[in-house]
Amino acid sequence: MVHWAQEARQRAHAPYSGFAVGAALRTAGGEIVTGCNVENASYGLTLCAERVAVFKAVSEGLRGFDAIAVVSGARRPTPPCGPCRQILWELCGDIWVHMETAAGRRRTLRLSKLFPEPFDRTHL
Ligand code: THU
Repeated sequence: MVHWAQEARQRAHAPYSGFAVGAALRTAGGEIVTGCNVENASYGLTLCAERVAVFKAVSEGLRGFDAIAVVSGARRPTPPCGPCRQILWELCGDIWVHMETAAGRRRTLRLSKLFPEPFDRTHL
């Protein structure tokens, strides 16, 4: 999965931050859908790699995810931002989140560890 995320990272459009991120989301059936961050001159329109991957997957009719890999060039493994955690929780549930740097430093946590006490449909 990390391999796919690394490949997707090469396609990042990150001219403003210079911070390229790749993600690879996996279904329980083993299908992989990738994403990269896509920035915009109007900064706030930027989409993170994780959200690109999950929206791509859902729009293709895929559900039942079990893990996402996130690769960046940072010194420490990059965790999904807050909004991405909310989106991942909604569409993927308590998946494994594997974070890895280009240099191979890695960390794997359940989403519930990164995003405790989420607001979700059980509150509606
Ligand atoms: N970014 C991601 O794509 N995923 C993360 O987990 C953290 C941040 C992107 C957004 C922006 O394009 C750049 O990294 C710097 O924040």
